[in-house]
Amino acid sequence: MPQAASLPESIPASSEQTRLFRATLDRVAARVARDELTFGVEFPQVTGPDGKWVRMPVSLSAGYDGEAWSHGNWFCGFWVGLLLASHLHTGDAQFLDWARTRMQLVALRARDPNTHDIGFIFDSSAVPGFHLTGDREFAQVALEAADKLRARLVTTRDGAYIASWGPLSDPRGRSASAIDTMANLSLLYWAANFSDDGSYRIAADAHAEMTARAFIRADDSTYHAVEYDVQSGARKRGYTFQGAFDESAWSRGQAWAIYGYVNSARETGKLKYVHLAQRLANYYVKRLGNRQVPPYDFDATGRDAEIKDTAAAAIVASALLELARLHPEAAAGKKWGERGLVMLEALCREEFTSDDQHGLLHNSCYSKPHNIGVDGATMFGDFYFVEALCRVAHPGRLRPNNAPNLSIL
Ligand code: GLY
Repeated sequence: MPQAASLPESIPASSEQTRLFRATLDRVAARVARDELTFGVEFPQVTGPDGKWVRMPVSLSAGYDGEAWSHGNWFCGFWVGLLLASHLHTGDAQFLDWARTRMQLVALRARDPNTHDIGFIFDSSAVPGFHLTGDREFAQVALEAADKLRARLVTTRDGAYIASWGPLSDPRGRSASAIDTMANLSLLYWAANFSDDGSYRIAADAHAEMTARAFIRADDSTYHAVEYDVQSGARKRGYTFQGAFDESAWSRGQAWAIYGYVNSARETGKLKYVHLAQRLANYYVKRLGNRQVPPYDFDATGRDAEIKDTAAAAIVASALLELARLHPEAAAGKKWGERGLVMLEALCREEFTSDDQHGLLHNSCYSKPHNIGVDGATMFGDFYFVEALCRVAHPGRLRPNNAPNLSIL
């Protein structure tokens, strides 16, 4: 049985890559310091057609407005994450002060029962805040949020899943799950490790198992969303919310799946999740061809096929660097690490905005069908980009380098 006896502390980037990543983090910190002073009590979401941040209050929860679903402000935690990463990189205490102040605003959302995005909000803010400082106030708020996420578990005859969108009392909310939720599981894994309460991990793993059965098509592409029969657990339909069409391959959905199964492999010890993450990544790189940034949807046609999503590229780069670190087979780990580094390098060289612009990565696509944040920067894209840079420049510092104990399960 292959075991990762001792994990590399960092990904073996070339000295040129390391210099590039550190220089990019210098620029990130300068931008973050500049923009922080302009937001007041609001938080950045995406950049609009004028190239400036669109801002939202933290209190905007997810919900249905008639038949229309609104994701609300799931972006706020990522800004705290950028402040924390800037503190880590520069050592400047001002960033940490700002992060603590902003965390007090974001903390209001830890009681939000209406959305799986509570995982994104707190896994990008309170969790790294606790890891960097050891301050239990960060941990308390992350644990409160993890309780709300765990409470979204819907148990069926054929397994359990975390419902993604809306109150569980609403049949639409109860029966729907999204591929994005795979990335939110990190908050539950963190809570299990922090509190020594395995029920968080059991809930996360149940979701990962059911998602593997219901979301992944025969060619290893993924559905964006699935409607379940809440009694039997059977998939009633697979569909999309942000992709081109129901059977299309939304590139960011594939990215969330890769990211989620890499983290699930590390936290559950299931070697089969390494293999699944590889299958999903193989599909992604096959459709990518000789590009480093995917179209927003691999099946988009005409002019829509030219719309890129750098956020998907950043999420995949970060996931592949982690896959490389924990992979039990050295040659495969090396291959995925090199691929992740090349993607990250391309983002630094070709997609990093100029210093007079807002946001870090342009050409991100939040939602083409809703025409929101198309061709601009997105908060989540910027966060996962910086997370990937930190995996190389500051290994184990923004997030712990937890070692998996991979088994044959
Ligand atoms: N809701 C997650 C995403 O837009 O990717």
